[in-house]
Parts: sequence; C-alpha cells; structure tokens
Amino acid sequence: MAEQKVVIVTGAGSGMGAATAKRFAKDGYKVVINGRTQSKLQKVADEIGGDEVLIVAGDISNPEDAANIVQQTIDSFGRLDVLVNNAAIAIFSAIEDLSLEDWNKQLSINTTGPFLMIKNAISHLEKSKGSIVNVSSVSGLGGDWNGFAYDATKGAVNIMTQALALDFAAKGVRVNAVAPSLTDTDMAAMVTQDPETLEKFKTRIAMKRVGQPEEVADVIAFLASHDARFVTGTILPVDGGLSASNGQPNMSE
Ligand SMILES: NC(=O)c1ccc[n+]([C@@H]2O[C@H](COP(=O)([O-])OP(=O)(O)OC[C@H]3O[C@@H](n4cnc5c(N)ncnc54)[C@H](OP(=O)(O)O)[C@@H]3O)[C@@H](O)[C@H]2O)c1
Repeated sequence: MAEQKVVIVTGAGSGMGAATAKRFAKDGYKVVINGRTQSKLQKVADEIGGDEVLIVAGDISNPEDAANIVQQTIDSFGRLDVLVNNAAIAIFSAIEDLSLEDWNKQLSINTTGPFLMIKNAISHLEKSKGSIVNVSSVSGLGGDWNGFAYDATKGAVNIMTQALALDFAAKGVRVNAVAPSLTDTDMAAMVTQDPETLEKFKTRIAMKRVGQPEEVADVIAFLASHDARFVTGTILPVDGGLSASNGQPNMSE
C-alpha cells in the first residue's frame, strides 16, 4: 500500500485554511495545521479528529517558527508532500495613512512567510516529488482601491509562484496558486457584514455571490493532486467570473 501523504496548511485555524485542512484529511492525508492561535487550531483538529492531525502553532514570518513547522512535520510524519501557503493578513489603507511598521508587517507575513516556508520545505518536497499551492488573490491580478499594500504582497506571491515553478519543474516539484475573490471568512467580515458594501462587490462578480471557503479548498486539493500533474506555474482564479470582466459595467443591469 502507498504511504499516506502529508500536507502542511498555514493559517489553518479559520476560513480557507481550515476548509483546506479538512478537505485534505478527507482525501486521506496526514495534516499539519499552523496558525498563531492555539485555541483556533485545537478546534479545527477536534473537527478533523483522529491522530493524523498535528498542530504546530507559530508565526510563519518568524524564521525559527517557520523552520519548526517543517521540522515537526518531518519528526512526526517522516515526509512532506504538499505545502499550502495560506496564512496572510490584509491591511487596507491609503498610502498617506499607512505606517512603515504596518507596511513591513503586511510584507513580512504575506511574502516573507511563504518564502521561509518554501525555503524550509523544498528539500522534502523534492524527495516526495510534491507540490506547493500558494493562496494568492484576485488582488494580485489588479489593484484594489486603498489596497496597494495587500495587493503588492499578492502580486509578489504570483510572480514567486511562476518563477519557482520554473526553478523546480525539473526536480519534479509543481508550484501553483489560487486567486480567490471575496470569500466568506473572518478576513472578509468587514465586507460581508455590511449589506451595502456586500452588494457593491456582488455587482462585479459574474456569479453574483461570495465564494465559500470550501470552494477554494476544493481547487487547492485539485492543484495538489495527481489530476493536475502537468500543471505548474498557474495562478487559477476562484472568483465566480470576477476576473473574466475587463471592469466595464454591465449595460443590461
Ligand atoms: N476572504 C477573502 O475574501 C479572500 C480573498 C482572496 C484571498 N484571500 C486569501 O485567503 C487566505 C486565507 O484567508 P481567509 O480569508 O481564510 O482569512 P482568515 O480566516 O483570516 O485566515 C487567515 C489565517 O491566517 C492565520 N495567520 C495570520 N497571520 C499568520 C502568521 N503570521 N502565521 C501563521 N498564521 C497566520 C490567522 O490565524 P491567527 O491570527 O490565529 O494566526 C487566520 O486563521 C489568505 O492568504 C488571504 O489573503 C482571502
């Protein structure tokens, strides 16, 4: 029988990360869940159940924590097949109001975090001929009003995805990304909890609704799977058709 595969999901205490951890567990993976808040991770681990889920709390932008997440994975499960770089924060602000401290925090979690995780994980992924799925955003495909800092990090993640896909293709490691639009999670609560703002978003989405975390998790699972074995360097929108539009209004509405 083939050995059970192992996935690390960062930011797995809520939203898409939690949905992704549950999806991989359902697919028979051993799952390592990371985030900064132990209680959130414990809840997800309890929902998954069994002893094939490992909690490693820590901040992905801290070099020691990032190394520890990968080391504990190898110590406990002996291998690594998939790294899902999902953890992120979103700071929206006009440039005049954004402090250097917040700019550095935004960059450090959303881009240095994935850099550190990949740097620590890559030798193990080469051994397993595994794959990386980065959780980017439609915000990395074009700008958001007042979103320049967050958008810059997601643009960086997209180019990292493509460049690393080139570097590791010959070594058998695939690197892809998903680019969700507004998805019903804690991060999007400021929008989803405000009916007027939510309506504004929906008018721009061809399918006229917010995405669900499980709908992103399913695409992440596909990109990591054997079915996607000839797919690398792809940034796959999971956006109900948002990025299919060039931004001009629907004249029939
Ligand atoms: N929701 C949307 O509309 C949307 C749209 C496009 C893309 N995305 C992307 O989707 C991904 C998942 O976000 P989400 O929407 O599911 O939001 P979420 O529920 O806020 O999940 C993000 C998770 O990341 C964790 N996290 C934050 N900083 C961390 C750090 N330094 N180290 C480790 N874990 C950290 C958070 O937990 P702790 O605070 O406990 O660490 C949280 O559980 C993100 O990459 C986000 O940018 C979201």
